[in-house]
Amino acid sequence: MTTVEINPTETDFFTDADVAAKAEPYFDYMLANHPVFREPKYGVVIVTGYEEALQVYHQPEVYSSINRTGGPVVDLPVELVGDDISEILEKHREYFSTNDQIVTFDPPVHTDHRAILMGLITPKRLKENEQFLKDTADHFLDEILPLGKSEFIWDYCKGYTILAVADLLGVPEHDHAMLLELLASEPGPTLGNLELQTAHHNRLESLYDYFVARIEERRAVPQDDVLTGMALATFPDGTLPQPIEVARIASNLFAAGQETTVQLMGITLQRIADDAELQERLRQDFSLIPKFIEETLRVEAPIKGSFRITKRPTEIGGLDLPVGTVVMLLNGASGRDGRIFENPTEFEVERPNARQHLAFGRGIHTCPGAPLARAEAVFTIQRFLERTSSISIDEWHHGTADAREWDLISSYKFRGHTHLYLEYTVKDAS
Ligand code: HEM
Repeated sequence: MTTVEINPTETDFFTDADVAAKAEPYFDYMLANHPVFREPKYGVVIVTGYEEALQVYHQPEVYSSINRTGGPVVDLPVELVGDDISEILEKHREYFSTNDQIVTFDPPVHTDHRAILMGLITPKRLKENEQFLKDTADHFLDEILPLGKSEFIWDYCKGYTILAVADLLGVPEHDHAMLLELLASEPGPTLGNLELQTAHHNRLESLYDYFVARIEERRAVPQDDVLTGMALATFPDGTLPQPIEVARIASNLFAAGQETTVQLMGITLQRIADDAELQERLRQDFSLIPKFIEETLRVEAPIKGSFRITKRPTEIGGLDLPVGTVVMLLNGASGRDGRIFENPTEFEVERPNARQHLAFGRGIHTCPGAPLARAEAVFTIQRFLERTSSISIDEWHHGTADAREWDLISSYKFRGHTHLYLEYTVKDAS
């Protein structure tokens, strides 16, 4: 890996391949020197500081999420002027990417849809889902362990993360194969790649059709199942949403919850396979697994960052932000803020405040799938460790310990592996 030299006025966070592959030097430089920085090329205000990020997360009336999944440039056929451009932005929603997904909604529409969303991910549903997660971990391990080696991202994570959401939503088992076919067969990672993201979004539209059909069926003939609960869910004012509104929310769980969790599982397994001492510690004490996952999220947030745009003039970190300013929140950096985390660049499995990281965001859009993602990672790691006596990196693919070559997603928004080749020794079943 080349050494990344940071010159904040010249390094283009959005196009620099070295920074995309290894963002830590950029994060650490910005945190130390410019926790809030207006980069010169696009005028995007980049927020790495932890407290500054919270200021943004907690002011949805000032910072819109409409451009949440877009890029550094917002191109609208209208001038963004006035003291409050909320209406102008909403009027031009069609110009923003993935504009039908809840993560891009602002209040009051967001508030209504979030209520439906939280009805789908209740603590009761999460508890009921746990046995499925354990069984499914074993099912995928049954497939890959006898081989002694495998490519973990595609052979395990992609399918596992889809089925985890499917079961949470009560999708009947006979439809699971169809979901795997639809969502786990992409030619490559969609993240940060506009063409593939569009293809992915088209697949989501097939999911919309699937859920609209199930909702209409259940509304006509209610059953004693989870899908009926979804079909009969109402907005906070008691009105029944259109089937498509609920279908979008349900489908969004796949969009938001699959690749992100794939990346978390990939990053954690890479660390375990690459660090024999850490692996032994976790093998000796499974209660460390959740802490290890939080520390991994702190230093290697799968979503490096997300966008906002100012609806009202405001100020942050000493900078004046006129309306229409694009802001990028770098969650991956905020977890390394030395004002919050002692020795922030050290990886400490038992760091007491690791869970304060911003990998799941904060405020009204805080990730509702965090408990599911955590459970998926815990069960995967625990069962993998329980059923093997060693897990290591396949050096034929990734090189020796002193010269690892990872296949990483090249994106300023996301981090993780496109492929991760592992080897393992299966425990004697006797
Ligand atoms: C390690 C895995 C995951 C990470 C790192 C992650 C990260 C995030 C972040 C940072 C946000 C907030 C975005 C913002 O404010 O701009 C978010 C929102 C969201 N996440 Fe996750 N997520 C993960 C897993 C999941 C899972 C498993 C699900 C579904 C079951 C899910 C569903 C969602 C949804 C629906 C939203 C939008 C919520 C809203 O707008 O109110 N996520 N996630």
